[in-house]
Amino acid sequence: MTVGIDKIGFYTPGLALDLVELAQVRGDEPDKYTIGIGQSVQTIVPNYEDVVTMGVNAAQKILTDADREQIEMVVFATESGVDNSKSAAVFAQKLLGLSPFIRTIEMKQACYAGTYGLMQARDFVALHPGKKVLVIAADIARYGLATPGEVTQGAGAVAMVVSDDPAIAEIATDSVYMSRDVADFWRPIDSTTALVDGHLSTDVYKEMFLTLWQRYQDQTGMKLSDLAGFAFHLPYTKMGKKALDQIMDQVDADGQAFLRAQLAASQVYNRQVGNLYTGSVYLALLSLLKEGDLQTGQRLGVFSYGSGAEAELFSLKLSDGFDQVVAQQDVAGMLAHRQMVSVAEYEEIFNSQLFDSAVDSQSQAPAGTGLCQFLGWQSGERQ
Ligand code: HMG
Repeated sequence: MTVGIDKIGFYTPGLALDLVELAQVRGDEPDKYTIGIGQSVQTIVPNYEDVVTMGVNAAQKILTDADREQIEMVVFATESGVDNSKSAAVFAQKLLGLSPFIRTIEMKQACYAGTYGLMQARDFVALHPGKKVLVIAADIARYGLATPGEVTQGAGAVAMVVSDDPAIAEIATDSVYMSRDVADFWRPIDSTTALVDGHLSTDVYKEMFLTLWQRYQDQTGMKLSDLAGFAFHLPYTKMGKKALDQIMDQVDADGQAFLRAQLAASQVYNRQVGNLYTGSVYLALLSLLKEGDLQTGQRLGVFSYGSGAEAELFSLKLSDGFDQVVAQQDVAGMLAHRQMVSVAEYEEIFNSQLFDSAVDSQSQAPAGTGLCQFLGWQSGERQ
């Protein structure tokens, strides 16, 4: 029996900021943002959206009635949760109309938690053939106005259905992983923005990728030329290049050109959205699946990194007809339809957001507009 990703959907809120405009207002060279960091646009989150609305919207894009009947577990990965006790997965269960006889849980380990969810899902389905697991990875990446991290902000959610006989890709049981206590990025419970040593975080990411790539090769006997590309966790798109550059000398010039083109394909959507923490690596995967040069049976590497720090490297084997399944997701259309805001409007929205964990943001969110209205929510309904 093969187990893996049967469906994948993405959602990001409908407002966006042009980073060339942000660079001009901040007094930075636009090329630093668009080339040095590799980001062009970032999603701006209106204050009536949160990880639940984003996660549910991503899942709505892929779930059928049959999926709803077969889903027996929801894993919700986030580091931007809306409650310190209750899991976002319980809200998602209700809003998606899932059965009461399921497991619901929220996972946290910075940007890594979505991968833990995916691995739990794979193991569950392997033990319960015929059942499905919904994995949602949703976050709001928020660093603060005029901080070095500001250009890497973003938000959105990826939802994946894990099943047997998957339509997109089999998740191989070849994972290598590691954890190490590092103070590169964290967010204390009384802080609304992340604390970050950006250059340290970049170094730890690179080092963990290199360590795990060597371990992966030792344990599996695989070579770089056996992979048709990588989906990297992309806090900003240049990060993927920094990681891959470390091992590029393991293939010839043609191999390098191919891997660079596949990397560019994996960066298309993240460049337009920004960091979505837990979902970023899976948005890169969706981007590679839709924009890359791929064929059935090929193997992709996936590198997941979460500050703090934990990382995992594994491979996916593409299923027959994967391209038709991902073709149903119109990501480019969704991104093109976002409304652009000015820097002044972005700052106003940013300052109006209530993410203090001591406050219930839902009870203070303006009700009845946009998505809340679509979902039929009223302020405070989710208490
Ligand atoms: P910075 O100090 O403002 O930027 O912070 P810089 O001075 O390092 O410049 C960035 C790049 O732009 C450099 O290229 C410059 O040379 C280049 P690099 O040496 O890195 O290749 N540059 C230019 N290029 C073209 N034209 C120009 C120009 N000027 C400069 N005119 C930093 C950058 C990424 C550190 C900052 O944005 C930050 O702190 N970001 C947040 C942290 C982050 O994203 N870390 C990534 C790894 S950790 C991770 O992935 C986990 C995370 O997702 C959280 C989680 O797990 O939950 C963050």
